[in-house]
Amino acid sequence: MKGIILAGGAGTRLFPASLPISKILLTIYNKPMIYYPLSTFLRAGIKDILIITNEADYENFRKLLGDGSQIGINIKYRIQYVQKGIADAFLIGEDFIEKDSVALILGDNIFYGKNFGNIMKKAILKNEGATVFGYKVPDPERFGVIDFDKNKKVLSLEEKPTNPKSNYAVTGLYFYDNNVCKYTQSLKPSLRGELEITDLNKIYLEKGKLNVEILDKSFKWFDTGTHESMLEASNYVNKMEKNGVTIGCIEEIAYKESFISAKNLWKNLEKFGDKNEYYNNIKKLLVSNK
Ligand code: DAU
Repeated sequence: MKGIILAGGAGTRLFPASLPISKILLTIYNKPMIYYPLSTFLRAGIKDILIITNEADYENFRKLLGDGSQIGINIKYRIQYVQKGIADAFLIGEDFIEKDSVALILGDNIFYGKNFGNIMKKAILKNEGATVFGYKVPDPERFGVIDFDKNKKVLSLEEKPTNPKSNYAVTGLYFYDNNVCKYTQSLKPSLRGELEITDLNKIYLEKGKLNVEILDKSFKWFDTGTHESMLEASNYVNKMEKNGVTIGCIEEIAYKESFISAKNLWKNLEKFGDKNEYYNNIKKLLVSNK
């Protein structure tokens, strides 16, 4: 399974903060926002990753994450020159996906749940159709909304409906089989001129191939598209880390998933010296696991 992180967009809602730099590189508590969706992929065991950026921030993303070898993964980059919609990721990424199945995560989506790695690994094993994740929210009209029956059979999907049929938002994490590029090619731009992810999911729904996994209250999900949600997410990560639970630390997950050995990780961390709190915490973890 390959993974695409969609990290383009102009971030106009967060101006002036996101004027000089992509919002996906802004900080959520103690690390850049993109660390969180990247860490979600790592927890799913996904190591071949394409990051789609806007033109202006392409070099900044490369500067931050390089080719991924420092944590034992492969990262490639592509530019989305025009904001053509979320599903455009599968047109831009078609030659990266090749004959594989693929996961997509939005760069501003933060997930935390104890068993989430296993839930995603199960979705990957299905290898047919699509899997999306539903999460109960008080303001569903801001999101794609999913309605399903008691057997979790999806009844409908709507993008930002005025009268939502349920309180379940479709989160920005999607798993697809290899038909995804072919289906995306058949999409027409919506009234706002975008290839909508919801229209793509509707194709899977019509074919009876859309699975939904509901993330219950033990999970935390943030769409950090506003100042308010960025602050909320930062406070949450801060609180959890003070209680000894690290969230979004890509080095830690890469080590725990055995993408990189303790020895090589230590070597890569040495260049940051000993005055950096983030890297010092990882070093502590390596020492305690010796
Ligand atoms: O977060 C979950 C929601 O994400 C879903 O419930 C919705 O169904 C889905 O449409 C999406 O809604 P948003 O309103 O959050 O989408 P937005 O246009 O804000 O884009 C989400 C991220 O994707 C944002 O960080 C920028 C990036 N993006 C978006 C578009 C349209 C791109 O990189 N390129 C694009 O063309």
